[in-house]
Amino acid sequence: MNTYKNLKTSVENGICTITINRPDKMNALNRETVQEIGEAVKEANQSAEILSIILTGEGPKAFAAGADIKEFLGLTKEEGMAMAKAGQDVFFSIENSAKPVIAAVNGFALGGGCELAMSCHLRVASENAKFGQPEVNLGLIPGYGGTQRLVRYLGKGKALEIMMTAEMIHANKAQELGLVNYVVPLEGLHAKCVEILNEIKTKSPFAISAVIRAANAFDETNKGFEAELTEFGKCFASEEIKEGISAFLEKRKADFHNKNIQTAQNFTF
Ligand code: COA
Repeated sequence: MNTYKNLKTSVENGICTITINRPDKMNALNRETVQEIGEAVKEANQSAEILSIILTGEGPKAFAAGADIKEFLGLTKEEGMAMAKAGQDVFFSIENSAKPVIAAVNGFALGGGCELAMSCHLRVASENAKFGQPEVNLGLIPGYGGTQRLVRYLGKGKALEIMMTAEMIHANKAQELGLVNYVVPLEGLHAKCVEILNEIKTKSPFAISAVIRAANAFDETNKGFEAELTEFGKCFASEEIKEGISAFLEKRKADFHNKNIQTAQNFTF
């Protein structure tokens, strides 16, 4: 495998493990990391030696705590949309990988991290993992397909609750809801993924990629993803996102109801 700035990769017995390697930043997905994940998944798909992929995060704390919030600073509506489009494209490439991809969720999977896990074919979580879409805390919405995939996995009612309350879901709850396939102790996370992939390895590779294609055709129109891009972009034209991002950077809770924040113009239905 090539060398990546923000990822570690290894290949063993036909399984490629891609590890997001920004542990001091909770493996936050800056643009470069997202791009590199896309390149590494492509490279793994092109390698004759590799049969399947595990995607995980470095360290015991985070799979990925979302898009890198610092990169949101000062973006225009168009730039916000372009950023989300680039992320959506990479996450589609994971979902459409002809080789099985398992997310080994080793801690926080928030925002873009939860969206990344959802774009994988299966999810195995460690007992300390927590899932959530906390973008509304920032004055934003999920932009990497979260509004669509969460609805598909959980149904609209629960998905809306999670996206509107920004609630963090513990691994066991996530399994109950159908978001996660298995929950295991952190030290057994990689082994469980390997066990599943070794079982899949005994099946017909042609049939495995065919079943992935067929399942992904469940809703081929994918119109909701475009709506998500538009709505994500619109958030950058609001005053509220400035308060949300400032609050995160200042390590305080956002006050979206402060009367100095002009919100009325943003409500166009
Ligand atoms: N983007 C950029 N930096 C992030 C980040 C993100 N999504 N998530 C965490 N970090 C950074 C923090 O700013 C901090 O950096 P610093 O040491 O330079 O201050 C570092 O990672 C450690 O995070 P910290 O918040 O101190 O750890 P914690 O254990 O107290 O909390 C989280 C962990 C995951 C609960 C918290 O970091 C968090 O809420 N992150 C943002 C989650 C989010 O809103 N994601 C959606 C983004 S669209």
